[in-house]
Amino acid sequence: MSAYAVTAQFYDAVASEQQGAVNAQITEALIGLETAGHPVIDIGAGTGLTTQLIASALPKAEIFAIEPDPAMRPAIMTRVWSDPDLRRRVSILPMSILAAPLPPVVSAAVASATLVHFSPSEREQLWALLAARLSRTGRAVIEIQSPFAKDVPDTRIATEQVGHVVYEGWASARRVDDARLHWRVRYVARFNGVEIDRQCTDYVCWTVSAEQVLAEAAAFGLAGYTTNNLVVLTKAMSAG
Ligand SMILES: C[S@@+](CC[C@H](N)C(=O)[O-])C[C@H]1O[C@@H](n2cnc3c(N)ncnc32)[C@H](O)[C@@H]1O
Repeated sequence: MSAYAVTAQFYDAVASEQQGAVNAQITEALIGLETAGHPVIDIGAGTGLTTQLIASALPKAEIFAIEPDPAMRPAIMTRVWSDPDLRRRVSILPMSILAAPLPPVVSAAVASATLVHFSPSEREQLWALLAARLSRTGRAVIEIQSPFAKDVPDTRIATEQVGHVVYEGWASARRVDDARLHWRVRYVARFNGVEIDRQCTDYVCWTVSAEQVLAEAAAFGLAGYTTNNLVVLTKAMSAG
């Protein structure tokens, strides 16, 4: 079963409240980037929220939206198909970033709410891939979600209304070991106050801090800076 089979239908409603502040930082990190001739890669494009954000920040960019999960892809396809500008600029690639047919040079990469799915060895592969492909002026914009492996009490993460239906998202986490959290995410939908749907799903995710990302990426010739929620990587001056 797809990891996002339960989450996909609730994703946009719950993520919009979660990602607002992060989205502003991603936009700021991308604005003004040179994108001519080389695509921007959206790593873990999900339902296409990040893809749309990239398209607004970089109105001339071609975008490769990499999304391996078959439950998320119908949403991004609908989003892209329904917008003529996105339909012209976005290619949806249905595999892991580590197996995607990428060009030798990319102008930027964005991983929003995605790095938690990469094990330490997969992160090494990711830094190597970015170091090999980022253009001289390119940037990789990486969101840091869970820097430490510590328990998180059950917390309401979003309440959003669509018509007369109110959606709530709840999340809690239990430490698995030094580098992993076991998340339990619950969704509840109420129509005029009456519960009509309740779903629950689990994810085991990797924790990684901004400092760890900077240290890991430096070993592959990437330098960077941090914002509240992001690490922004570029090719280090001495790298080729
Ligand atoms: C929480 S969603 C984030 C979606 C979107 N970027 C956003 O911020 O709304 C994380 C996405 O990363 C994708 N993902 C997981 N492993 C991946 C990999 N190796 N390569 C690319 N995407 C991956 C998942 O399928 C999922 O859709």
